[in-house]
Amino acid sequence: MTTTTTSSSIFSSAPRIPPDAIFALTAEYIADPSPQKVNLGQGTYRDDKGQPWVLPSVRESRRIIEERGLLHEYLPILGLKTFREKTAELVFGEGYGKIQDKLATSQTLSGTGSLHLAGSIIKSCLLRSHPSHPLPTVYIPNPTWSNHHLVFSSLGFNTLSFPYYNPTTKSLNIPSYLSTLRAAALGSIIILHACAHNPTGLDPSPEEWKEIGGIVKERNLFPLFDAAYLGFNSGDYDKDAWPVRYFVSELGVESAVCLSFAKNMGLYGERVGCLLLCTSTPEIATNTQSVLESLQRSEISNPPAFGAKIAETILANEKLRRLWFEDLRTMSGRIQEMRRVLFEGLGRYSSGNWDHLIRQSGMFGFLGLSRDIVRILKDEYHIYMAENSRVSIAGLNSGNVDYVARSIAEVLAREQ
Ligand SMILES: Cc1ncc(COP(=O)(O)O)c(C=O)c1O
Repeated sequence: MTTTTTSSSIFSSAPRIPPDAIFALTAEYIADPSPQKVNLGQGTYRDDKGQPWVLPSVRESRRIIEERGLLHEYLPILGLKTFREKTAELVFGEGYGKIQDKLATSQTLSGTGSLHLAGSIIKSCLLRSHPSHPLPTVYIPNPTWSNHHLVFSSLGFNTLSFPYYNPTTKSLNIPSYLSTLRAAALGSIIILHACAHNPTGLDPSPEEWKEIGGIVKERNLFPLFDAAYLGFNSGDYDKDAWPVRYFVSELGVESAVCLSFAKNMGLYGERVGCLLLCTSTPEIATNTQSVLESLQRSEISNPPAFGAKIAETILANEKLRRLWFEDLRTMSGRIQEMRRVLFEGLGRYSSGNWDHLIRQSGMFGFLGLSRDIVRILKDEYHIYMAENSRVSIAGLNSGNVDYVARSIAEVLAREQ
């Protein structure tokens, strides 16, 4: 009997893909033995002692869940119904009643899972209606969150970067933004950061959102809101959700809202997210929801329970909801305060103009430093930030902010 052995592998064509830059940076930070080290890389909230913060509303919600008796049963395929309903009510505010029956919703694996599910259902529906047409282009601002291109290109979409930021003025490049939208093919998908744009911290003003919305409606573009920071940006959920409400309730355009509870509830590891699809009729919504259910079944069968129960308990309990709104103000207030102290320190120690830092908002500061300076800060000062000089302001505290400002000024002076 002869046995055929083969050394060929189904995986032999697998390329070596470099690790994700921001996760690799976190690993480098953890391995750094320096007592001076500062982590301004990954966007996770820290308190003034540099520690992860369990929100008091989350703590209380957990206590209630445990008192009720924590069961470990499967959730339905689309996740917890009350969680989905309360999330939609929260996002759309007073306008919820009017659009409620045109929504298709699903619990998702945090914000990333929500973006992926949104891409999957758009693809699935378009391939049914136009099997011979190429998928629409997904327009993504440049710069953007490091995962956007990967999520949509892995689903087979062609992604296209458009200039969002003007590095000379260190501000939002609205003329280029608007001209890109005007030139986009009808039906293109546009990724919109609902607030706290990552990494620049620059959002359109309400007037600019209205201009963007006007073109989106006129050209039948599909707005896909990445809403990972609602409430966390300004500390006021209603204010942060305004652009989403404007597009859905005022303009009445079909859209997707991809939500994450990682930042605003501090539930990073629990992977709590929700996809809200705003469709044009109740019948379309019902059918769309059935497709969401089928896609979710094939992908993850059903979503994780614990984090969603925490969020649901908060959203469904008026007292806890108010406590959570207070937590949002605590987190965004501390970030705003650290932004101000960093700005003042940089002004004191360096000769540069740092006005851009104070014009930005949200978790991130986009400093505008060269890659060389970023590298020197890491190698010699143990200050870790993304290569594009995006800093997570939440990594600053009263014990390290002066050191960071002085170090940046020192390296800048040295390199001049
Ligand atoms: C802009 C943006 N979108 C989406 C996400 C998704 O986060 P998660 O999947 O952890 O909810 C993040 C996280 O950093 C983000 O910054």
